[in-house]
Amino acid sequence: MTYPEFPPNCTSLLCKHLSSELFEMLKNKSTANGFTLEQAINSGLENSDSEIGVYAGDAESYDIFAELFDKIIEDYHGFSHNDRHHSNLNFNDLKVKDFDEGYVLSTRIRVGRNVKNMPLGSAISKAQRNEIETKVSTALNTLEGELEGEYHSLLGMSKEIQERLIEAHFLFKDGDRFLEHAGLNRDWPHGRGIYHNHDKTFLVWLNEEDQLRIISMQQGGEVLEVFSRLVIAMKQIETQIPFAYSERLGYISSCPTNLGTAMRASVHIKLPNLSQNMEQFKAITQKYFLQIRGVDGEHTQSKEGIFDISNYRRLGITEIEAVQEMMDGVTALIEAEKNLELMKHVESNLDNDYLTH
Ligand code: ARG
Repeated sequence: MTYPEFPPNCTSLLCKHLSSELFEMLKNKSTANGFTLEQAINSGLENSDSEIGVYAGDAESYDIFAELFDKIIEDYHGFSHNDRHHSNLNFNDLKVKDFDEGYVLSTRIRVGRNVKNMPLGSAISKAQRNEIETKVSTALNTLEGELEGEYHSLLGMSKEIQERLIEAHFLFKDGDRFLEHAGLNRDWPHGRGIYHNHDKTFLVWLNEEDQLRIISMQQGGEVLEVFSRLVIAMKQIETQIPFAYSERLGYISSCPTNLGTAMRASVHIKLPNLSQNMEQFKAITQKYFLQIRGVDGEHTQSKEGIFDISNYRRLGITEIEAVQEMMDGVTALIEAEKNLELMKHVESNLDNDYLTH
């Protein structure tokens, strides 16, 4: 492979950090699973609108290609080569904010997990992926109480059920082009599936971008309830399935954006006024390290002034800090939305006064 020609408008962290010197240094290296630089960067090369553009094939990729991954990790999370990740799952440390009524529609917190001593999804074999499905679904079927539910394999699931689950934001979409070019959709739908409890407030996706996506969600803004359900589930699953973890990088994930806590804490929030003032909206999200997504997930548009807002950083901060960052930022967004509402009100009253006098 020769040094790729990046399009001039390319803004991904891959384009930004992969110099020709770095490329020459890494191009002939591979991990014990045979994962190469070419595979790590393929998604970013095929999708020139990528934000990041790289995926790991195994935990070792983060060492073998460290000169590239570390630059991307530092740029995204502000976490340097000498930093170490720490965890904190103690809910008592959370300074809970009760959001004002009427803005936050739902809350969802997820973590990504991968199975220890297995290649990640982009380098895994069909047999290994199936083995994970069997082991993890067996473990999930032992969950009790609020977490008790059923596993549905994607293989053999009818299109109608699939579409219903996607529409309700329960199931992952297929055919994601970023995952496709990372080799993460190979052998689709084999080994993929979804577990959910009876209330559909606790879900686990199997063998999507990460081998497990453990998700807690419900209507409204009760962040503590959502978070505590997730932590209890994560701990129970981990007693049966050992997860890939690095002393330096925390939980190992396919995409470097998810390292560390691998946690994305999000709300769906209605901000009709703030969304007319994108500059102000973005200034607040930047201050609190928040990411704005559309309501149907990543790479989708907002509908009716409703946005998906989540923490941007996941590595080098604890789980508590990740959730706190989201809550503090959402509180600031609601304040700004209320002020804009008030101003609109005052302005329309002024207009009325003017007309009647
Ligand atoms: N690879 C895609 C990109 O570079 C997604 C990156 C972050 N999202 C994710 N689901 N890992 O834009």
